[in-house]
Amino acid sequence: EDGGPQPEKHCGHGRGGMGEEVKRKEDQRFITGRGNYVDDIKKPDMLHCEIVRSPHAHARIENIDKSRALDVDGVVAVLTADDLREYDLATMPTLMADTQDVLVNDKVKFQSQEVAAVIATDRYTAKDGAQKVVVDYDVLEPVVDAEKSLEDDAPLIRDDIEGQEDNHCLDWETGDEEATAEAFENADVTVKEQMLYQRLHPAPIETCGAVGDYDPGKDKLTVHMTSQAPHIHRTLFAQVSGIPEHKIRIVSPDVGGGFGNKVPIYPGYVVAAAASYVLEQPVKWVEERSENIQSTGFARDYDMTGELAATDDGEILAVRTDVLADHGAYNAVAQPSKFPAGFFNIFTGSYDIDTAYGSLTAAYTNTAPGGVAYRCSFRVTEAVYLIERMVKVLADELGMDPVEIRRKNFIQPEQFPYESPTGWNYDSGDYEGALDKALEMADYDHYREEQQRRIDEDADTLLGIGISSFTEVVGAGPGKTCDIAGVEMFDSAEIRVHPTGNATVRVGVQTQGQGHETTFAQIVAEELGMDVEDITVEHGDTDTDPYGLGTYGSRSTPVAGAAAAVASRKVREKAKAIAANELEAAKEDITWDRESGEFHVAGAPDRSISITEIAAGAYMNHPSSEEPGLEAVNYYDPPEMTYPFGSYIVVVEVDRETGEVEFEKFVAVDDCGNRINPMIIEGQIHGGLAQGIGTAMLEHVTFDDNGNVTGGDFMNYLLPTSMEIPNFETGHTVTPSPHHPIGAKGVGESPTVGSPPAIVNAVVDAMSHAGITHVEMPMTPDTVWEKLDEAGLAT
Ligand code: CDP
Repeated sequence: EDGGPQPEKHCGHGRGGMGEEVKRKEDQRFITGRGNYVDDIKKPDMLHCEIVRSPHAHARIENIDKSRALDVDGVVAVLTADDLREYDLATMPTLMADTQDVLVNDKVKFQSQEVAAVIATDRYTAKDGAQKVVVDYDVLEPVVDAEKSLEDDAPLIRDDIEGQEDNHCLDWETGDEEATAEAFENADVTVKEQMLYQRLHPAPIETCGAVGDYDPGKDKLTVHMTSQAPHIHRTLFAQVSGIPEHKIRIVSPDVGGGFGNKVPIYPGYVVAAAASYVLEQPVKWVEERSENIQSTGFARDYDMTGELAATDDGEILAVRTDVLADHGAYNAVAQPSKFPAGFFNIFTGSYDIDTAYGSLTAAYTNTAPGGVAYRCSFRVTEAVYLIERMVKVLADELGMDPVEIRRKNFIQPEQFPYESPTGWNYDSGDYEGALDKALEMADYDHYREEQQRRIDEDADTLLGIGISSFTEVVGAGPGKTCDIAGVEMFDSAEIRVHPTGNATVRVGVQTQGQGHETTFAQIVAEELGMDVEDITVEHGDTDTDPYGLGTYGSRSTPVAGAAAAVASRKVREKAKAIAANELEAAKEDITWDRESGEFHVAGAPDRSISITEIAAGAYMNHPSSEEPGLEAVNYYDPPEMTYPFGSYIVVVEVDRETGEVEFEKFVAVDDCGNRINPMIIEGQIHGGLAQGIGTAMLEHVTFDDNGNVTGGDFMNYLLPTSMEIPNFETGHTVTPSPHHPIGAKGVGESPTVGSPPAIVNAVVDAMSHAGITHVEMPMTPDTVWEKLDEAGLAT
């Protein structure tokens, strides 16, 4: 009736609706030390769990001697796989339907794998006990490199899988192999580059943890846990344990960052829950930092070959890629089950390319399982890196400006909805608009001149300018294609408007710091004409919230945000009937005005009523045609994904003597459709860019040949600090999603997805005049210096 919120026009109702920079409601408790994280939970008689982990990456367990641990004063129990087997809990399914040991049954498959659990009266005693568990290992040869693990003489890791004779995990392909090969044969120019998207760890500030709390009186198991997806975790707990789902309550309280790391189920959660069930006392398990990095879901680890075929004047005709993926010891990637390579097949990016082909082989290695969507929508990060790097490689081959080659190949605004050669249906975009804005902000021409000046004058530092014009695919997703462990990826919102005119909104997604308690309230405020202060958002409790698939892959706004808008509109419909009753008019004659937020009798604007008055009417004077009360619920199955995009321009200075890289300028223009809270978006962009810098410059989970994790703590796995983060200049364009009820797309992961190729392109650009085509991440000074040396540029 009112056409929905309009881009950039919806600011200013003054009620804290769409587009207003409402301060985050949740910050009051966080900045006053009143957050409630899993480790803050204290229960009477609570026990503590410490996990005994394997020091070896590959070893058969010959014997576990618990006796010395049980002798420690305060140790209550020591659990091994044999104990769990009694309850049918020795193994658990991964999200990809593999079977993972909860505690090692027979053979250790990665360093730090969970071998035994010690339960004690306090954490220190549990730790003392864990040191006294004696495990006899028969150490086997490990393999931690995906390429080596596929060689004929590699040790077999998964001898638990019937018929498995090698370390091959899966194959996958997409696109048209033949047509792509033909395009390559007929092209004027082809380029090829191999690039590793290294193993990363999402590294949330809060590690994983759980408090299992079985109540024998109610025969109910409550698990407080660091979960990005409480409902699906409840379903999996029910399936694994046999406890009926209504007898399980998962509570995900405040969560200190997830970034995809808190999507899988980990052995520690199962052990804490099982121990509490068996001992009939609450049991807490909280990881230490190195346990988190070494044993929980890693991200990326895609070794990619990219190829482009093009005409002499830079028209891209085809893209081809081949990937070797390291999945670790179990296939526990967190992807929709029909997408074993996640959304990697969006690798044609922002470009109108006729044909494409991608293939992938995944291998098991003696490393922790993973392949989670780290601040990304299911491998879209790897896809964006591939195409944005390859466009730079092609530009250099052709001697073209990377801006011009992008302009030449962009999908044009009038081509939307656009179907990509690998089957994606892009909703909307204006890629050139975003790039133009970024170019203007970055003062591009000036830096190109300065770059040439330094080359001409043989200056001590080189300048590099990197661009990334990325397209994302977020909002998984339509139930017909997307599921997690079989459950369709819809999401939900329930709104209850109370008699005194305020409301409680419950959503199926679970925030980990993104500000949902504010932005979901803004959506409802916008759609019901309420004040944002009168709305409380609740989430993270399966006993009270409607079922949803959780928060990852920037799906909250595209899916649960849509549910909140649709549920609000259902409330609005009912409100009209109540308004009609109060105003003594026919329901058909009642209209709602978005600007004032009031309900009017058509043609008589002075006869109006607010949502607060309607709420009172719903409980105190309800019309006979309606039930009393004012509430609604919506389960939203998105018709399509949303496709946010952006253009990032990074200018770096490379020191020819040390290989050090300094950021001169960092411009990020994002388009996430209609914006709910620009201030929160700005925060999301800043955080995501910092993580992109970590990826490009610092982070890598490394292993030695014996399978030891050499990048498994914060001394060796380097996160960026404020010292490494430059000043960001952010901008935006607004291209609404045509199918989303409020025209919004997701935004949380765009900066992490979009920035690494811009940064690498910039460093390569500083050396491309001397023939350098690629620098591997993380671009530490020694890596960069080797490239300078190779190009004859080092001083
Ligand atoms: O799923 P997740 O919350 O991580 O990602 P998101 O949907 O991209 O949202 C991240 C934060 O940005 C949330 O608080 C959103 O409500 C907010 N946002 C916004 O204000 N406007 C948009 N168009 C998209 C997201």
